[in-house]
Amino acid sequence: MVRKLAAGNWKMNGTGASLAEAEALRAALPAPTVDVLICPPATLLSRLSDTLSGSAIATGGQDCHAAETGAHTGDISAAMLADAGASHVILGHSERRTDHGETDAEVRAKAKAAIAAGLTAVICVGETLAGREAANTLSIIGGQLAGSVPDLVSADRLVIAYEPVWAIGTGKVPTLHQIGEVHDFIRAELEKRFGVGVGRAVPILYGGSVKGANAAEIFAVSNVNGALVGGASLRAVDFLPIVEALQAS
Ligand code: PGA
Repeated sequence: MVRKLAAGNWKMNGTGASLAEAEALRAALPAPTVDVLICPPATLLSRLSDTLSGSAIATGGQDCHAAETGAHTGDISAAMLADAGASHVILGHSERRTDHGETDAEVRAKAKAAIAAGLTAVICVGETLAGREAANTLSIIGGQLAGSVPDLVSADRLVIAYEPVWAIGTGKVPTLHQIGEVHDFIRAELEKRFGVGVGRAVPILYGGSVKGANAAEIFAVSNVNGALVGGASLRAVDFLPIVEALQAS
């Protein structure tokens, strides 16, 4: 059985005051029936992990370096994330690929480092609007999966997030048919590469303008096992209905 995951990506949002949102989430979700994850900015990770310790809500980073230690000013290693209480790390988000020119090979190296440090890698893939309009979506996703996902993963160390670049933060969402087509394709690629046992157990999240109002219909699509949520994860009152929709799915 594939586990369901509701993941919040706070991006470059949040200061100490935001911990109150996590407190509210914790109070509202004493025993969630799906996995719940919050990925705050690195400055908040340790405090958020403390705030949520003993709860069922996990914390994660938004990026890590591929090296274990060394002269990399401003960077953070996977072991440092784990030391700050993280169980997951988002890798290859389209904003990292765009703002920092991250390549598939770099994402793969980071994912290897994350898994070696005991973290679960949440690897993001997604086409641009130009890619979709040129009818290249599946070949783009296939290339990103082949290039970004390391070999020899176990199912509990990998999550794939399908995030169409044009749907992130825009309020635009693909049709349910389009989401299903890509998720079915990702599932088939994972099964081909890692075998049916592992391939079927890796959660595949949809991300891009998910909110309470559209969550239930997205979670009903085949091979959608949860969501990676940006804007609507910042406030407990917005994120909770998404978690609840996943629990009900
Ligand atoms: P959004 O972001 O929910 O604000 O569209 C999703 C993401 O980038 O993970």
